[in-house]
Parts: sequence; structure tokens; C-alpha cells
Amino acid sequence: MPNLVAVIMAAGKGTRMKSKLPKVMHLLAGKTLLEHVIGAVNQVGIERPLVIVGHGREVVEASICERTEVVVQTEQLGTGHAIMQALPYLEGVQTVLVLSGDQPLLKPETLHALIKLHETQGVSATVLTAYLDQPFGYGRIIKSGESLVKIVEEKDATLAEQQIKEINTGTYCFRGSALRDALTKITPQNAQGEYYLTEVFDIFLRQGEKMQTYRTADSHEALGINSRGQLAEAEAVFRTRIREHWLSEGVTLIDPASTFIDAEVELASDVTILPFTRLLGKTRIEENAVIGPQTSLENCTVGCGSEVIYTVAKDAVIGERCHIGPFAYLRPGTKLEAEVKVGDFVEIKNSWLETGAKVPHLSYIGDAHIGKSANIGAGTITCNYDGVNKHLTKIGDYAFIGSNTNLVAPVEVGEHAVTGAGSTITKNVPAEALAVERCQQVIKEHWYRKKMK
Ligand code: UD1
Ligand code: MG
Repeated sequence: MPNLVAVIMAAGKGTRMKSKLPKVMHLLAGKTLLEHVIGAVNQVGIERPLVIVGHGREVVEASICERTEVVVQTEQLGTGHAIMQALPYLEGVQTVLVLSGDQPLLKPETLHALIKLHETQGVSATVLTAYLDQPFGYGRIIKSGESLVKIVEEKDATLAEQQIKEINTGTYCFRGSALRDALTKITPQNAQGEYYLTEVFDIFLRQGEKMQTYRTADSHEALGINSRGQLAEAEAVFRTRIREHWLSEGVTLIDPASTFIDAEVELASDVTILPFTRLLGKTRIEENAVIGPQTSLENCTVGCGSEVIYTVAKDAVIGERCHIGPFAYLRPGTKLEAEVKVGDFVEIKNSWLETGAKVPHLSYIGDAHIGKSANIGAGTITCNYDGVNKHLTKIGDYAFIGSNTNLVAPVEVGEHAVTGAGSTITKNVPAEALAVERCQQVIKEHWYRKKMK
């Protein structure tokens, strides 16, 4: 049996969120609330925490089953009842770290300090607390001198107790044997008719067991998400943390306030992010790249020295020294090698463009492979869809596609081949050939005057 086990409570409905989605599945900086808590637990060396699931369990379970041990709480009868479900996993465990899946701002260093303090003091329980100017809604910490006496929930608190600003964050360390024993004794005799985990402190007090508090200096860590307002508040705090982190890592943010960077984004030093830019999901930006203004990249990679301006991209790979935008739209499966240019009003989907290829203006490139240094003239369209299936367009190295060419896929244009402007290409074009598909131009001299007569 391991000495230290973490239990994360995530079975509650989150009624105050007014959502069909279980509360812990709401996103904060691109990761679910629960993933944030699991991440913090992982960072203190606990690889597989127990997670109590219940409300919306299929959705919650599907998102975490690989990284956790899932325990089901069929009826949500309170936080004490939630932990009771984990009892079979806590036999012989020395220290139990209990957390709430709705407390995403908790820092690993705080958890580490909490565990250390708990284990060195040899107490039955250590509660992580915080001072809040507006403690409404949280359990209050009642002390006698410096000793913890009990935790009173908002709804059970007297007016005097409601004035207390030290609150229960919902994160605790317990001596395993003491927790197991106390859980058999709690009852739902309170304002909400629930089994409160916090009642174990009343039991500890009665039994004369030692308990203590550990107060975090960063009160933001206490933020428990019960409402959309609290979710927005946590998002703002977390986004600020992320910006401060990247600023300290050598990234330039011209306007931090209008720059949104998700939790899992990676930025190299000397990256510059211009205003009104969102970097989402698992996006990675290499050195000296300049992103923005007004750019949104989701799960994209951008190579060294590339420039991406006024662009929307998702699941796209952009190589080194590329120029993208303004007003480009890169869709999933786009792979651009080095020094590719994608200019204004160009959409690219599921296509591979080799080094030096250029699509400078007004094009749709879908399901295509474009060779090295090929030039795609303004207005070129790959007609990739026949109404049933998608087909491939292949353009060889150094090919020159004239403006407004329609490439009716499946079709291939060979190396160094040229297509005449305005052509609709339905047959393969051999290497080094010119393909023109156009009616002959007819000139009718003095047509205007004749018509006017
Ligand atoms: C709880 C604490 C309160 C503390 C606050 C911190 C209790 C009784 N109260 O209140 O002292 O200040 O957290 O945010 O513990 N859950 C289950 N099963 C249940 C009920 C809840 O798994 O039957 C889970 C929820 O999904 C949530 C967590 O436990 O992740 C906390 O529950 P919540 O209802 O948010 O408790 P609070 O009212 O916030
Ligand atoms: Mg809560």
C-alpha cells in the first residue's frame, strides 16, 4: 500500500453552474477544472489519484480514466459520503490527501508544503485554509487561539461565524486511520441534510485528536468554482499567471491584457505576441516567431522566425520562416514546410505544401500536395469534392499555376509545368508542359457604335 493517496471529489452536479455539463468538466484556459486538479496532484508525485465520479459520470470518466482510478458515488449525499466511497482503497494508507475537483487554482508547491507540514507534525488532519475578503459560501474556520476547533458551513453558520474570513479551501491531509474511523461516525444532521466531510473535525475534537491548519498566502488558490461568475474570476486569475510566466521566460507580449494563452501552450524565448491573439490547446511556437495581431491558433506548431498575421488556424503545422496572412484560414491537416507563403484570403485544408511554395492571394487549397517553390496564382481553387468523395490534387516542384485556375481533382500537374490563367484543368499536365483551357478570345471591331445605331 502506498503511504500517500490522493482522493479528488468530482461527483457533484454543480447546480449553481446551471449547466448540462458536469461542473468539473467546464474549461479553464483550455483544460477542464478536474484536469487542473489532477495536474497539480501529479506534480507532487502522485501518479494515479482516486477520482470520485457520479453526476454525468460517463463524460467525466471518459476524460480521465487513463490517468486516474475512478470510484463511483451513485447518489451524491455530500462530501463526507463521497470520501466514504473511497474507503476500500484507503486500507492501510498512511496519509490521505483530499481535494475538490472544483478548485483549479491550487498550486503544486502549496500542496507540497501542506503534505510536508502534515507529515512532520504527526497530526490527524491538516486543513488548507485562506483568508478571503468575501468569504461568502465557504466553510469558515473556527479556532480557539491558534487551534482548529471546527469548520462551519455557510448555511449552518451563526451571524458571528459568518464574519470570519479564514475559510476552508476544501483541501486536506488526513492520517488514514483517523479518517477511516471518523467517516463511520458522521451523520447528515445539518442545514443541507448532507454527509459533510467537515464533520470529521467535530469528531476529531471530541476524541481529543490533534488537528491543524495551513494557510496559503495566495488567496486565489482557494477559489472553488460553484458559479459562472467564479469560473470567470478563476479564468482571469489563471490567465494572468500564464502571461506572467511567459513574460518571465523571455516572451514579448505587446498587450498582455488582450493576449490569451491556454495552459498547455509552449512558447520559446524571443517569441513576440501582438495584441488580440489567442493561443489555444497544445499550440507550440518556436523562437523569433511573431504571432498576431488578431490571430487565433489552436493545436498548431509554428517554426522559428515565422510570421502569422490576422490568421485563424487549427491543427496546422507551420514550418520555419513562413509568412502567413493577413486573413489566412488554415484548417486541420495543413502542413507547411519552411519558407511557405500563404497570403490574404487563402483557405488551406488537409494539404502539404513543400519548402518555398507560395499561395499569395484568394485561393482554396484542399486535399492537395504542392511541391517545392510552386507558385499558385491568385484565385486558384482546388475542386476537391465531387459531391460524394474528396480527391487529391498534386502539383509538382516549381510548377506555375496561372491565376484563377480551377484544378478539378483528382488531377496532377507535373514539375515546372504551367497552367494558363483562367483554365479549368481536368486532365493531368505533364512536367514542363503548358496547359491552357480557355475559349479563343473574339474581337468584334466597332461593336459599340453598331449596337448604338
Ligand atoms: C465545500 C466544503 C466547504 C469549503 C468549500 C471549498 C463541505 C461540506 N464543504 O463546500 O467547507 O469551503 O468546499 O470550495 O465539504 N462532491 C462529490 N459528491 C457529493 C458532493 C460533492 O463528489 O456528494 C464534490 C463536488 O463535485 C465538488 C466537491 O465535492 O468537486 C465540493 O463540493 P461542493 O458542493 O462544491 O461543496 P461546497 O459547497 O463548495
Ligand atoms: Mg465547491
